[in-house]
Amino acid sequence: MLERIEAIRAEAAGAIEGAGSSAELEELRVRYLGRKAELTGVLRGIAELPQEERGQVGGAANRARKELEALLEQRAEALDATELEAQLVTDRIDVTLPGAPPRPVGHPHLIARTTRLIEDTMVGLGYHVAEGPEIEHDYYNFTALNHPPGHPARMLQDTFYVQSHPDVLLRTHTSPMQVRSMEAKPPPIFVVVPGKVYRRDSDATHSPMFHQVEGLAIAAGLTLADLQGTLLAMCRALFGGDRELRLRPHFFPFTEPSVEVDVSCFQCGGRGELAGGERCNLCKGQGWIEILGAGMVDPNVLGFVEPHGYDPEQVQGFAFGIGVERVAMLRHGVPDLRRFFDNDVRMLEQFS
Ligand code: DAH
Repeated sequence: MLERIEAIRAEAAGAIEGAGSSAELEELRVRYLGRKAELTGVLRGIAELPQEERGQVGGAANRARKELEALLEQRAEALDATELEAQLVTDRIDVTLPGAPPRPVGHPHLIARTTRLIEDTMVGLGYHVAEGPEIEHDYYNFTALNHPPGHPARMLQDTFYVQSHPDVLLRTHTSPMQVRSMEAKPPPIFVVVPGKVYRRDSDATHSPMFHQVEGLAIAAGLTLADLQGTLLAMCRALFGGDRELRLRPHFFPFTEPSVEVDVSCFQCGGRGELAGGERCNLCKGQGWIEILGAGMVDPNVLGFVEPHGYDPEQVQGFAFGIGVERVAMLRHGVPDLRRFFDNDVRMLEQFS
């Protein structure tokens, strides 16, 4: 009997030592110490043993049971620790990781992208970018740009006025920032001004709100040749390296001389007709596309900022204004300007 107890103890101790999980350990506990276990049977049958065996067998069986209980407890603790450890490793959350990356939900509007392209080109030529108010004084929008009060040129632009303040209006162009920029900084100045402008106008190529980029360069000795070179660089960045420019005389109150600038058609290469011989629809057979207004800043305009260091005898320069929608329509073949502002994602998604 004593040998049997020792055999059970040894077998159970080995099994407990080798248990790989707490579930397995629980099985061993039932097998070796449960109600139907052999050792439990021995302990239960002690009373029936002959008197002289009882003490020895009972003592051995009890020691074996105690030892196995202790072993089970030790092993359970060890297994719990490794199981917890394993779970911590697999459940690991690194709270320092950035959150799930935001899903791409959009992209800049084509007008914003076109504006950026113009800005970037001009910044590459050494210009600064400035922005100004959309609600403007008559003084900056007209008077200081050489539109005397009552001058018919004011009628050329269908202006939105603020009813209660006849001197306040929605700027009809970005040109007022020419004057504001010069008030803020003495020459030399090289600045571009992107922004929204407003006119009472609405059809396939006009919208009551649209965007322009104004350019202004004032320094000693600037000439029309500088204007032409600058605009050539800008138009080549926008429409391709092979483009040529054509300057046609025009009238703007704030420039003298004034020009309208055409860029050679980038669809027909300036020939006016396509490879098959048919008339180019983009330039309407002209070979040239009108793209912006420009000119040499009128000395009268500099006269308004003379106290800020702009002596028309000392400095001169040029200005230009380009319509962003028009550039975007040409570059991307958009047929109707109003599509930019319909907020139809099927249209907008094409330009991601
Ligand atoms: N402000 C003019 C317009 O909106 C465009 C323009 C023409 C701007 C000539 C200029 C310029 O700076 O020199 O029609």
